[in-house]
Amino acid sequence: MCGIVAYLGDKDAFPVLIKGLKRLEYRGYDSAGIALIEEGDINLYKCKGKVSDLEDHIGGKSVRGTVGIGHTRWATHGEPNDINAHPHTSESGNLAIIHNGIIENYASLKEELTQRGHTFKSDTDTEVLIHLIEDIQEREGVKLGEAVRIALNGVIGAYAIVVIDKDRPKRLIAAKKSSPLVIGIGEDDFYLASDATPIIEYTKNVVYLNDEEIAILDLDKGLKLVNIANQEKTPYIQELELKLEALEKGGYEHFMLKEIHEQPRSIADCLRGRINSLQGRVQLGGIKDYEDKIAKANRVIMVACGTSWHAGLVGEYLFEDLARVPVEVEYASEFRYRNPIITENDVVIAISQSGETADTLAAIKMAKERGATIIGICNVVGSTISRETHGGSYTHAGPEIGVASTKAFTAQVTVLTLMALSIAKKKGVIEESRFRRLLIELENIPSKVEEVLKINSQVEFIADIYKDANNALYLGRGLNFPVALEGALKLKEISYIHAEGYPAAEMKHGPIALIDEAMPVFVIATKDASYEKIVSNIQEVKARKGKIIAIVTEGDETVKGIADHTIEIPETDDSLVPLLATIPFQLLSYHIAVMRGCNVDQPRNLAKSVTVE
Ligand code: F6R
Repeated sequence: MCGIVAYLGDKDAFPVLIKGLKRLEYRGYDSAGIALIEEGDINLYKCKGKVSDLEDHIGGKSVRGTVGIGHTRWATHGEPNDINAHPHTSESGNLAIIHNGIIENYASLKEELTQRGHTFKSDTDTEVLIHLIEDIQEREGVKLGEAVRIALNGVIGAYAIVVIDKDRPKRLIAAKKSSPLVIGIGEDDFYLASDATPIIEYTKNVVYLNDEEIAILDLDKGLKLVNIANQEKTPYIQELELKLEALEKGGYEHFMLKEIHEQPRSIADCLRGRINSLQGRVQLGGIKDYEDKIAKANRVIMVACGTSWHAGLVGEYLFEDLARVPVEVEYASEFRYRNPIITENDVVIAISQSGETADTLAAIKMAKERGATIIGICNVVGSTISRETHGGSYTHAGPEIGVASTKAFTAQVTVLTLMALSIAKKKGVIEESRFRRLLIELENIPSKVEEVLKINSQVEFIADIYKDANNALYLGRGLNFPVALEGALKLKEISYIHAEGYPAAEMKHGPIALIDEAMPVFVIATKDASYEKIVSNIQEVKARKGKIIAIVTEGDETVKGIADHTIEIPETDDSLVPLLATIPFQLLSYHIAVMRGCNVDQPRNLAKSVTVE
């Protein structure tokens, strides 16, 4: 993880770096730091904590310089403290580096460098890299760009780096492998960052670096790209579509709350131009060429992590039920290490909000090498996963900044529903009447989500009752089992309450032992095929004095008579219930976290984009 930002030009670099780091803080917030070149010196400011702590640390000190680098850290090597904070400097102090990624062979490199007289201040792999670069520069008598290239040839691992040299204040060297890096091309200046959010207000013209590419940015000579094999590359300049307003809180207290409330719009954006119930049409341009392959696939394997994995589980139900395609859902981190049997007749669908998750990326690279067709469902346009796939569909949810995923999940489920419907139609395995009904229902989902959001104050009331719980259980059946898992994940990650999601019928095989009068049990009990069964499960909890908070279909009286609290959601087709039932759980976790004084948008130990394996 970690966020990196850099500026080279004639403006004051400090505000650009600080603002950029604040935008990238979702990537990690264990420590922050900047380095600026000022009158032939590198001035370094860094400390443990957030970017706001860095601002306090700098206080009224002069921070001038028109070239600089900044970093916000998610700790991997070395505990989060002032010394391990980036930037790191070389042995002589002439060079400084920021780094996102992991240098796996850092220990052997450090050993060699120590034998050659290098001494290290921090425990980080990054400091080893900048020492190595300087060591090569001196030993081989080469320029900085060439020294970076040679060093990277000896490095195993992942990196997005930017290096500055105090004697060359008009130059920056940047490189990337398996960690993202974007270069913004201004009129007379350059902006670099882990994603486009720190760049958007200065320029719309960007170059996404490819793996093993090195960028040499020079204020007099412009941008030059080479790869680590020293072949010159032509920069491909793209125009950003991102809007600045999407990166602001827009009057909400937290990004998470804003993003929960954006769901009517984000789902509508995801559907836009892709369905037409009047014409009975579903169309996903990005997978058109692969639909036949999916329809005839030996099996579809969905790979993802965390919340995206939960979306995959919903997808499994939808693909199997609607399109009659066999599906397996895999944790990317397990799949890639299992030596799985993959054939050319398999289709792998990678689901990822960020499009940068290291395990998901590694899983699809492995499946691609073994001949599978790879389809992506990503939110971040131009992200690494979206570029590694054969085809795919963006979720169009807009930037998700709160670390806990909300609108990205519902958008992923929406895309999976569209894919399942499209394949079902292609295979001719869905009745026309059901197909049309589902299209109409899908078109109605944004306004039904709007309805669900109106229960916010009721959910806040329930949150107040259960905010001090130590444990919580989430139960659901069928398509709503992944909703239960997602509800439990949301609660634990932002409020630090232990929560477990379970298939409701499994409760009696163990977790029922946990139930007593202190245990809140959140149940999805909407009127679907397993309604009667879930009512029985609720009775089982009540018989043991557990507290039931049930999500029910509007007008339900049966569950209301048994449960401690009910939250009503509008009626919809069984297949689409997850899109509505998820929302009360998002709101509940949000309110409980706020009431417990937790940092909702930046929960402890987490980062939005998990680019380490
Ligand atoms: C939870 C959450 C994480 C992510 C996971 C995968 O709220 O956000 O569990 O879902 O880290 O991230 P992406 O979707 O970016 O691959």
